[in-house]
Parts: sequence; C-alpha cells; structure tokens
Amino acid sequence: MTDKRSILVTSALPYANGPIHLGHLVEYIQTDIWARFQRLRENTCYYVCADDAHGTPIMLRARQDGITPEELIAVTQKEHEADFADFLIDFDNYYTTHSDENREFASSIYLKLRDEGHIRTQTIKQAYDPEAEMFLPDRFIKGTCPKCGADDQYGDNCEVCGATYDPTELKNPVSAVSGATPIEKDSEQYFFKLSDFSDMLQKWLKDGHVQSEVANKLDEWFEEGLKDWDISRNAPYWGFEIPDAPGKYFYVWMDAPMGYMASFKNLCDKSDINFDDYWAADSKNELYHFIGKDIARFHTLFWPAVLDGAGYRKPSGVFCHGFLTVNGQKMSKSRGTFIKARTYLEHLNPEYLRYYYTAKLSSGVDDIDLNLEDFMQRVNSDLVGKVVNIASRCAGFITKKFDKQLSAELPDIDLYNDIVAAGEQIASHYENREYNKAVREIMAQADKANVYIDENKPWVLIKEEGKEDEVQKICTQGLNMFRLLMTYLKPILPATAEKSETFLNTELKWSTINKPLLSHGINKFKPLLTRIEKEQIDAITEASTENMPTKEITATGPLADDPIADEISFDDFAKVDLRIAKIVKAEHVDGADKLLQLTLDLGGDTRNVFAGIKSAYKPEDLEGKLTVMVANLAPRKMRFGLSEGMVLAAGPGGKDLFILNPDDGATPGMKVK
Ligand code: 2FM
Ligand code: ZN
Repeated sequence: MTDKRSILVTSALPYANGPIHLGHLVEYIQTDIWARFQRLRENTCYYVCADDAHGTPIMLRARQDGITPEELIAVTQKEHEADFADFLIDFDNYYTTHSDENREFASSIYLKLRDEGHIRTQTIKQAYDPEAEMFLPDRFIKGTCPKCGADDQYGDNCEVCGATYDPTELKNPVSAVSGATPIEKDSEQYFFKLSDFSDMLQKWLKDGHVQSEVANKLDEWFEEGLKDWDISRNAPYWGFEIPDAPGKYFYVWMDAPMGYMASFKNLCDKSDINFDDYWAADSKNELYHFIGKDIARFHTLFWPAVLDGAGYRKPSGVFCHGFLTVNGQKMSKSRGTFIKARTYLEHLNPEYLRYYYTAKLSSGVDDIDLNLEDFMQRVNSDLVGKVVNIASRCAGFITKKFDKQLSAELPDIDLYNDIVAAGEQIASHYENREYNKAVREIMAQADKANVYIDENKPWVLIKEEGKEDEVQKICTQGLNMFRLLMTYLKPILPATAEKSETFLNTELKWSTINKPLLSHGINKFKPLLTRIEKEQIDAITEASTENMPTKEITATGPLADDPIADEISFDDFAKVDLRIAKIVKAEHVDGADKLLQLTLDLGGDTRNVFAGIKSAYKPEDLEGKLTVMVANLAPRKMRFGLSEGMVLAAGPGGKDLFILNPDDGATPGMKVK
C-alpha cells in the first residue's frame, strides 16, 4: 500500500475560434503549477485538455473565413498547442472535442441518460432567422435593451445596464447573421432533467467539493429551483448529431466537458493507464477541474449530474478562479492590454508571467491584476535580484578557485535546515492553491540566504591569506540554499529549474532536500534569468494596440491640442436626443461670417438653427439634404435670433467641415442610434 496519490486534472477547454491571450493563461498556468507540484511530490498526476471545437460561433466563423469548420479547428488547435508549449504548460494530452472518442462518449452518455428516464422532449418557441434559415442562439440576436434602451445589445443580457432577459423581450431585434428580423418558430428540443439530481447535488455540494463562494452562489440557484437543461440544437449546427434524433445536434456545452474524458481516453489508449481507474463510479483516484468563475454552473450542476446519471464518478473538486485585469482594468485592445500569448512570447520569457501570476493567485475567486509596472519590478527584484543572484554570487568562486567542487560540510547547517523546514508550509500552500502565500514564504527564505552571503562576504575573504576553505564553505552553503529555493520554485519555473539542474549537476527533488550537496562537482554557471527592461513591456503594449479611430486622430494631431473631455456616464449620453432633420431652407445671415441659418424639419416640428458651416457649404447645396441634430438642446439666444438645436458636423474647419449626412432611408424626426 502506497500513500502516493493518483490524480487527474483538467483546465477548461478553450474555444477553437480565437487565439490564447493572457486572460486564458491564468488558468493554464495555475493548473500546470498544481500538476507539476504533485509530480514533484511524487504523486501520479495527469493533466489533460483539448480544444472546444463545436458550436454556432465556430460554424459561422469558418463560413466567414470561407473554410470548413474542420479546417478552422485544425489550424486553431495547432496555434493553441504551440502557445501552451511555449508557456511551458505540460499537458499529458491535448486533444479536441471533435474526436471519435468524444462522439462515442456523447452518444453513450446520452443513451444512458435517456434509458434512465432523464431526458424529455418539449416543443418550444425559438428565434429563427428566415433569411439565413437557422435558429439563432441568444448571442446572435441583437437589439435594444428592454430595461435601459441601450442599442446593439445581445439577446441574453445588456452590457450597459447588466440586465438579463429573454431574447423575445429585446426591442427591434435583428439577426447578427443576416440582419433580418427574427421570427419565432416552434421546434422540438431535448431536455436533460436536472431536477432529478437536486438531492444528489445538494449533498455533493455540502461535502466540500466546491469553494465556499461558489457554494453560496449555488444555494441561490437551488432556491430558484433547478430548471431542466436544453441539450439540443437544430440543424444547421456544428457538432455531433443526437443518435436517435436526426437533424438535432448536441448543444456544445453538452459534449464539451466530455472532452475531458475523451482526451484522457485518448491518452490511455496510447499508454498503459486504465481509464476506469479514474472515471468509474467507485474510483478512489482524484479528479479536479480548474475553471473560471463564469462557467461554474456548467461544472458544478450540469456536469456532476450528467456524470452521475450516466454511471460515472463525480469530480473530487472544482476549482474556480477569478478574471484577469491588466493595469486595473478589463483587457482592452485600444489600450494595448488585450495581449495575445504569442505577442507576449515574442518579447518576454514565459517564466516571468508564470511567476507573477503565482505571486498573485490565491484559492479564492477574486480577480487578479497584472500591473505591468509592478510585474517588471517584482520579477526583477525577486527572481533576478534575490534568487538567481545567490547562484551568480557563489558560482564563480567554486568554478575558478575550487575546480567546481563543493566543500565536504556546511558552515551553517541550522540555517540550511531552517529553509528545509519551511518546505512543508510551502508544500501545503501549493496543495491548497494558496500560491501567493507559497511565493511569499519562498522569498522570505531567499532573503535569509542573501543576508547570509552579505554577512559572510566571500568576495572580501578570498583576498585574505589562508581563507580559501572558508570561502569554499560559504559558497557551498550559498549554492545549497539556492538548490532548495529552486526546488521550491520548480513548479513555477520549470525551464530555470532545468538549467539549475545542469549547473548543480543534480536533479531537483523535493524528497531529497534534507540532504545537502557536499563534496560534489558542479558545472559552469551560465546566466539563468535576465532583468525585464521597460522597452520590452512597451513593445508588448504597442504590438497589442489596435488602431482604433481615436488612436489615428491622436497620431495626426488634433487630440494633442484639444484633448477629449472628461468621461461622461451612459446616463449623461442617453439624455442627448439625436434626430434626423431635413434642411428645408438654408440662408446667409446678414453680418455673420461663419453662420448659415437653417430651417430644419423634424417630421412635424420645425426648428430654426444657426450653424457655423458657411465656409464649407453653399446654402443651395444644403437644401433638401438630411442631417443629424441634437433636438433637445436648450434654445440659445444669439445675436441674430434664437437657435433651437444644433446640427452635427465634423472636420478640421474652414472648407473641410462636414455635416453628418445620413444614408437614404432615414426620415425626418427619426431617432439616431
Ligand atoms: O468557456 C469556455 O471557454 C468553454 N470553451 C469552456 C469549456 S470547458 C469544458 F466544459 F469543456
Ligand atoms: Zn440595458
């Protein structure tokens, strides 16, 4: 009987229609470190993942690119795998949900659920695009928010006021696929009876398989009552057809988590691992899913219920993390903080980011912030200034003066043992995913090691007669402490750990830390990590900045002299009533150099407006044209009369001043959105 554990871990499967970015990497780095830590403690730990390759967005994206979904997912998977490999994410297997194994699981699990009576059908009304001839997922319907009136909102929730609603409640709905107005159409759908599993789930959640924050959220869902889950989608759909329902497909979220099993099965078939040891209902091995908090419901309600209903084991734990912000804000393309994995890799060592995320991550669901300035300082001061510095200060003497040989004893065995003793606390922080605490503890040990070297000053002693032995011992002590620190950091910095192993001529193993390296030959020291320079950070931000219109204007100048005014709230903006107006009359104003007097028809209401556009337009050219005006501006008394609104114009001025000129089809009085 061994006390070693057998563990299977997963990270959420990224969609196969977009690049990996630094937000995604929080989770892959978090999981990878946990898996590497388990292996370092000599537990068996497999880490599998896959691309999430099905669903409407992937189907439409492929259509838009003029390729097949198979081509799109193949190209994307290659890119994802390269990004992960370069970030040192050490999967035992990386697969795809569009695989034979996954089709097999989707089908057999569904049939089992059906045979056990957990599937029912129901005819429901759904939004349908009559032009594209397809049913529309909520995200592909856009319109005006029924709560706050904001335009261009998705069919399920409003990004402006945060309201959630049914797509049928959206005002002026249009299909994002064709632009047509969706109609409602009846269709028979297949539902998984989640409510059958209510008691089982309540018990499972009480047994501590999820974090307390998530359990609290789940309580709210239980109070609302568990709703049955629509697991089917109508053709055309990119996914697996439901075995007994031609023309119906499994909803992407049905077969996605099965991708964990399929990827693992694929690994088992290539090795001698037994699939059932990890997935059978009575499995004693451990199974953990690392996910983002946004997909907790899928992993803590639907997924355990599906597994249970189909006769498999449930996860030992579902570990949620928060989102990433960069410089305190949501990642943004215009600010250059929407950073793709590949862009980062073109400029910086992946281990820097691995270290920084680790220093920030806890076991909770709070968001973490990548502050680029702090990132640079932290990496430079901790990794370069504290850890690597220990080795570089001691290595030269051992190599040059002592023929690469370490001494036969340590001058301060108590200090060494002290740092060994800290290992248990560090291990427990890793185990509990309190990575920020683990890093703090490791750096506290690094501080002790640096104090020792500062106090013993081998570079001074070496100049004194007869002190060689002492120098050799001090440097041996230093390198042994470095070895401990690098062992503790090995899950975070696998490449630097490997280089350190070559340098120290030994494998860094947690199980041997209590035995110092003595009378041992090492290799020549090569620099392990270099400092981050500000220019590298700037280059990443610059390469990530998409040229939004404002950026271009900045480049050509006007914003430099006339900066954008203070931000206004949406509510402030919503007060501005923009209307289409017809210019029925345009006349010169006696005594005014710049003004034209416009008579505007608002579709029933007539306004008199003075506009400073004389140098750009002849009055007769404007008559009969449509423009956009601010219709609810308080009237202003001017020298020439009362101005009852304002027409919108843009441009540098003079002759180059353009009044906004809406397309045909607009009618006077129409609201501008
Ligand atoms: O939210 C997402 O990005 C999904 N592709 C995650 C799927 S995780 C698992 F269930 F497959
Ligand atoms: Zn709203």
